[in-house]
Amino acid sequence: MIAFSSPAAAQVYSEYEGRIAEEQVRAAALGKDLFAHRDEFLLPVGPEVGAFLHSLILARRPARLLELGTSYGYSTLILADAARQVDARLVTMELADYKQAEARRQISNAGLAGSVEFRLGDAVAMTHADTGADFEFVLLDIWKELYVPCLQAFYPKLAAEGIVAADNMVEPVYARDSARAYRQALGNLSDMQTTLLPIGSGIELSVRWPAGHHKL
Ligand SMILES: C[S@@+](CC[C@H](N)C(=O)[O-])C[C@H]1O[C@@H](n2cnc3c(N)ncnc32)[C@H](O)[C@@H]1O
Repeated sequence: MIAFSSPAAAQVYSEYEGRIAEEQVRAAALGKDLFAHRDEFLLPVGPEVGAFLHSLILARRPARLLELGTSYGYSTLILADAARQVDARLVTMELADYKQAEARRQISNAGLAGSVEFRLGDAVAMTHADTGADFEFVLLDIWKELYVPCLQAFYPKLAAEGIVAADNMVEPVYARDSARAYRQALGNLSDMQTTLLPIGSGIELSVRWPAGHHKL
């Protein structure tokens, strides 16, 4: 259950719920062919992770948020709504222009356009190029083989006490090698405290905590 900031945002969320239900039926019909059609699907973090991230942002009140992997805007809606409620700004990055266009449309329908900056292109390059204030919250949810290059790009721009949530640590099975590589790369960073949360498809939740360099 997510406490959205407005009826308009809640309405857009319910539209996404309808699309998710339709896509579940279509995905089951596609079976092994689903991967070839993945760009047609939302591939959302899902309601459990969405509610968790929304609550986390309300409680932690990060000022600047980064989302890597906008897709069609499901998670963007949730992050943007929480950002609006704590007077924060969200930067969201996506490679596919048609996905970003749909996300823009829905964020505008939700009345949240003022809280979101959309960036189109390769998220790794765009994160390296970012010159804004450090990020206090990052959602990492792009193609899984890019998780380590993304970490290398955003880590120098992650604020002290900044939080990173990375999706798909457990599912899908084909992404497990990439998930393992990401968790190993995190383990090499002495100021990152990190844990695997068994919600949704598996979230790695990490906190940059510069004082805590005595890792066991
Ligand atoms: C799993 S989906 C994101 C789902 C979204 N976070 C949600 O919960 O609704 C991953 C997205 O990453 C995008 N992507 C893949 N490679 C990218 C890259 N190099 N730069 C930016 N976006 C990329 C894909 O086009 C896809 O839309």
